Amino acid sequence: MTNWQKLESKYFMPTIKRMPITLVKGKGVRVWDDNGKEYLDFTAGWGVNSLGHCHSEVVSAITEQAKTLIQTSNQFYTIPQLQLAELLIENSCFGKVFFCNSGAEANEGAVKLARRYGKLHLDGAYKVITALNSFHGRTLAMTAATGQRKFHEPYSPVPDGFINVEYNSIGAIKKATSAQTCAVMLEPIQGEGGVNVPDDGYLKAVRAWCDEKGILLILDEVQTGIGRIGTLFGYEQFGIEPDIISLAKGLGGGIPIGALLTKEKSAVFALGEHGSTFGGNPLACAAGYATLNFIIENDIPGKVKRNGDYLIDQLKKLKAKYDFIVEVRGRGLLVAIQFNSDLTQNIVKSCMERGLLLNPVKPNAIRFMPPLTIVKKDIDSAMGILDKVLAKV
Ligand SMILES: Cc1ncc(COP(=O)(O)O)c(C=O)c1O
Repeated sequence: MTNWQKLESKYFMPTIKRMPITLVKGKGVRVWDDNGKEYLDFTAGWGVNSLGHCHSEVVSAITEQAKTLIQTSNQFYTIPQLQLAELLIENSCFGKVFFCNSGAEANEGAVKLARRYGKLHLDGAYKVITALNSFHGRTLAMTAATGQRKFHEPYSPVPDGFINVEYNSIGAIKKATSAQTCAVMLEPIQGEGGVNVPDDGYLKAVRAWCDEKGILLILDEVQTGIGRIGTLFGYEQFGIEPDIISLAKGLGGGIPIGALLTKEKSAVFALGEHGSTFGGNPLACAAGYATLNFIIENDIPGKVKRNGDYLIDQLKKLKAKYDFIVEVRGRGLLVAIQFNSDLTQNIVKSCMERGLLLNPVKPNAIRFMPPLTIVKKDIDSAMGILDKVLAKV
């Protein structure tokens, strides 16, 4: 049998600490490794496989599209991207869309759009305020936008124009705002930062401040969007409308796609000012359309809310049982538990050995982000495995 893990260390730069299993098949919330062992997948490709692995709607959409038209340049009209654009716009508060291929690229586009707005309407203002502990992607500019020093240091100096301030503090945003500020960019709930939910009223206060100053509010919904926290878009839960949002992850049901959505007021890209070779290609957009349509038609956000509340309740029961669990937090199916010390690695490893895949988001916190289509029975099975592992800590 091929030793895939040995090949990886021979050919790859070691940019990621992988778990020692090779996955070869997936269906719904389950995946299988090359030894035939089955796992419950509570990582869902890092929040990507919104309908689970190889959902029939996504599979048939990409199979049909692959037989018909896979890629053209954006020099031509193609139908899947227009259908997906219509579905996104008609189900959101936005007026215009731009398609790309990933979350980082969507955020880059959002920041470019805000800078363009700054040039046109704010006397050349170009700085973007972002939050400490945020994560906005791995391109050079998004490394600077990301408010975590460990992502800056290997590449410093990182690009100018980003100010990272305390999350969940309107005072910090006010203090950092100057005549050079064109936008504030935040995650409605910080995902990679450990599933940090802001206080009620924070995003409303940020919205009011942006309005007062005439600057744009960008929400990075790469992780919170497309039903993940129990509404189609995260912003719906905070009583505000941002000017721009970025999307990726769950939008394509597993196929790479990114998008930025903007209000008409900030839709200021003109001919030739932004573009992408693969952005909006028919294959990815067919996957996106099938995924989003299924999510809307089947009220998946409502199910996420109910099953997410159930998952949180089950985790709270474990918290009551094990005093080293200090917090359960999150919304919908973006949830974390925090420990009183760095227990994550061992717990995640033991869960994997027993057939449950979890994300070690912080040395002292585990993130749960199963497919949005998960059912209670599978949550119970996962909690059973976790309980057995926690009992041994
Ligand atoms: C909130 C947020 N923004 C941006 C990104 C980057 O997305 P991608 O890896 O698709 O570039 C991520 C990825 O985890 C994310 O969670």
